[in-house]
Amino acid sequence: MRVAVITSSDSGYAGTREDLSGPCVKEIAESFGAEVVYTNLLPDTQELLENELKKICDENLADLILTTGGTGFSMRDCMPEATIAVTERIVPGIPEAMRAYSLQFTKRAMLSRATAGIRKQTLIINLPGSPKAVRECLEYIFPELQHGIDILTGTATNCAR
Ligand code: MTE
Repeated sequence: MRVAVITSSDSGYAGTREDLSGPCVKEIAESFGAEVVYTNLLPDTQELLENELKKICDENLADLILTTGGTGFSMRDCMPEATIAVTERIVPGIPEAMRAYSLQFTKRAMLSRATAGIRKQTLIINLPGSPKAVRECLEYIFPELQHGIDILTGTATNCAR
């Protein structure tokens, strides 16, 4: 599985705060056997995030894009909006599962507006912005992602058949 990791963070982009979440996503993805083919850190600017997501999907650079950050209530947080704007099909079950599972760690999990969706043959999943939240969410969902991507890319048949 080819994975791209995109961090959305004004402070990370400005260099005033070290991005720990992007490297955390990469480490967890690799621990599940994925190949992290691309990483980037962008400010919380919707147009830039949309263009980045579109490029990765349209040039088929990755099977899965994992984003981190920008899912909260700050006026600058816009990762879900960028994701919704570029995806053709929404995948509600993944963020539903992340939030349901995460409530055991913190009720503030309900404050993440993370979404997921598909553009062409790439699945995009938003993760919250802290390394702790990334670990809790990603370790839970990752084992099921390969099956979804196999169906998306046509290497597995529909389960109902
Ligand atoms: N989910 C998990 N599993 N663990 C967490 O610690 N933090 C929450 C939530 N989701 C958290 C979590 C908090 S405090 C916020 S504000 C939102 O994610 C949004 O985070 P973001 O703005 O960094 O994306």
